[in-house]
Amino acid sequence: MNNMDLTGRIALVTGASGGIGKAIAITLASAGAAVAVHYGRNQTAADEVVSEITENKGKAKAFSADVSDPDAVQKMFLEIDSSLGSVDILVNSAGIDGVRSLLGEDRIEDWKRVISINLYGPYFCSRMAVQRMEKKRSGVIINITSDHVDIPWEGYSAYCSSKAGLDMLTKTLAQETADKGIRVISIAPGAIKTGINKSVWEDPEMLRDLDKKIAMGVPGDAQDVANAVLFAASDMAKYMTGTTIVVDGGMLIYPDFRHGG
Ligand code: BGC
Repeated sequence: MNNMDLTGRIALVTGASGGIGKAIAITLASAGAAVAVHYGRNQTAADEVVSEITENKGKAKAFSADVSDPDAVQKMFLEIDSSLGSVDILVNSAGIDGVRSLLGEDRIEDWKRVISINLYGPYFCSRMAVQRMEKKRSGVIINITSDHVDIPWEGYSAYCSSKAGLDMLTKTLAQETADKGIRVISIAPGAIKTGINKSVWEDPEMLRDLDKKIAMGVPGDAQDVANAVLFAASDMAKYMTGTTIVVDGGMLIYPDFRHGG
């Protein structure tokens, strides 16, 4: 069987106005899903994603909510229920890496904000999604985590903690919902060229340093991640839950250990 067709499914992609989320929204729509394009603030960018989908004969609509606010998330799900239908595929892609600072020199508010968006956000969205999916005894939740579930990153303790927490949410929720026909999967990108790390890949010296951390020697594209999401969301992955697909060009295989050690 070679079937990644999502016709008839309703997908919500958070953080879909740009970066990895945008590529995911466009890819799921091209596979036939009706896509709820979530955005936090950038309505113009979200509308552009919707236009790109509809111009290619896909179905999409933009929805806004602060994912760190449970009431706003509930309201968004009710809006999606009435305009597209109840969500079959949830992709928690909205995320920030926050302000780089060492613990003790940081601001508590900044730490909280990263956890609120990256961990509370997927939690609030997932509980709304599960309520709907269990009624249909079918659904897929995909959490976009990071290589930083495993790799500590100086100055980004909130980001690393949020992603490691999100990965355990994947596993625990998968355990809770496997007998309800729901699958939960983490997709862990490495360095993917998007707005989040633009300051790194635009600077030749920083890019050289980043490339050395990747076995394949270059950062990936948002499409590389979107392809994995499409597979995970489709029936091709029907026997996969509670696990992670890593899309990192070999960052996690520590390429620096080719030499020395
Ligand atoms: C971060 C990127 C970073 C990559 C590799 C990702 O989780 O969002 O900014 O380039 O990890 O360090």
